[in-house]
Amino acid sequence: MGKLGWSLFLLLAVLVGYIWYEPAFDPESLRGARVVVTGCSSGIGEQMAYHYAGFGARVLITARREGRLKEVVAKMKDLGAQEAIYVAGDMGKPEDCERTIQTAKEKFGGLDYLVINHASLSTLKKKNKSPFWDGDMDILHAEVTTNYNSYIQLASLALPLLHKTNGSLVIVGSMAGKIASPFSTFYAGTKFALDGFFASLRQELVMQGVNVSITYCVIGLVDTGLPAKFKEMFGFLMDIPAAPPSDCAMAIIRGGAARQREIYYPWRDAWVATKLSTIVPQFFESLTRGIYPQKLEKSPLFTGEEN
Ligand SMILES: NC(=O)c1ccc[n+]([C@@H]2O[C@H](COP(=O)([O-])OP(=O)(O)OC[C@H]3O[C@@H](n4cnc5c(N)ncnc54)[C@H](OP(=O)(O)O)[C@@H]3O)[C@@H](O)[C@H]2O)c1
Repeated sequence: MGKLGWSLFLLLAVLVGYIWYEPAFDPESLRGARVVVTGCSSGIGEQMAYHYAGFGARVLITARREGRLKEVVAKMKDLGAQEAIYVAGDMGKPEDCERTIQTAKEKFGGLDYLVINHASLSTLKKKNKSPFWDGDMDILHAEVTTNYNSYIQLASLALPLLHKTNGSLVIVGSMAGKIASPFSTFYAGTKFALDGFFASLRQELVMQGVNVSITYCVIGLVDTGLPAKFKEMFGFLMDIPAAPPSDCAMAIIRGGAARQREIYYPWRDAWVATKLSTIVPQFFESLTRGIYPQKLEKSPLFTGEEN
C-alpha cells in the first residue's frame, strides 16, 4: 500500500474508533448520587427516573401532573431508589423552578446531577396550524419561557450546589436544535438556543476553573407522547422509526455520568444527520423536507389576504 493508501486507512481507523468509542460507565458511581430530573410524568424523563432508581440513586422528579408523579415515585421505590421524592410544578413559573432546587437542597443536602428534560408542546395547540404563520406570539412566549428560560434558571439555581460536588448538568436537546427541520419553528428555536447557551456556559465554567460538566443531548425520534401529539395535531409523522424511550433514557444517563460534552441518540439518525447537515447543508435540508409528507400552504402573508 502506498503513502496515500496508508493515510486513508489511518483516517478511516481513527473515524471508526471515534464512532465506536464509548466512555466507561460505572453504574456503582450512581449509588447514592443526588439527582434532580425534570419532566418525569411521562416519556424519556419517566424512564430516566426508573433507571436512576435502579442504580440506587436519591432522586427528585418534577412535572405538572401530580397524580402521575406519585405513581412514578412509588415504582422508583420498588426499583431500589435510596430516596424518591417529587415536586409538582410548572417549570414555566420561576417560583416552581426555585422550589424544585430548594427542595433538593433541603432534602438531599446537595446535588450531583441536574437533568433538565421537560418540554412544552404549546406549539401544537392549534390543529394543523404552524403558530409562526398565524402570528401567534403568545405561543412563542410560552414556548420560550418553558423550553429555554426555565432551563437557564434551573441551571443558575443549581450551579452553586453542583460546584461543591464537581457535579453535572445534563440538557436534553433535540436533533431539531442541530438541523433545520420544518414544522417546528418555535420549538426548534428553543433547542438551538439551548445548545448555544450551554456551549457558551461550558466555556465560561472552564475559564473560572469550575469543574461542572455539561452534557448536551441530541435526541432523534423517540416513541413517547411527544411524536404522538405531533401526529394527532398535524395528522402525519416523519417517515422514520421511533426509538424506545427506555434506551434513550439510559443513553442520557450514561452520557451524563461519563461527563461527555454531547451524546447522540439514536446514534444512527442523530449523529449521522447532524454531521451530514454540517458538511452538505442544502442537500440535507432537501432530504429533510422530503421525509415530511405534509405540504405547507402559502401563508396569507404572501398571498396578499392579510395586507
Ligand atoms: N420524543 C422525541 O421524539 C424527542 C425528540 C427530540 C427531543 N426530545 C426531547 O426529550 C425531552 C422529553 O420529551 P418526551 O418525548 O419524553 O416528551 P413527553 O413524554 O411529552 O414528556 C414531557 C415531560 O415534560 C413535562 N412538562 C411539559 N411541560 C412542562 C411544564 N411547563 N412544567 C413542568 N413540566 C412540564 C411533562 O409533564 P406534565 O405534562 O405532567 O407537566 C412530561 O413529563 C424533551 O426535552 C423533548 O424536547 C424528544
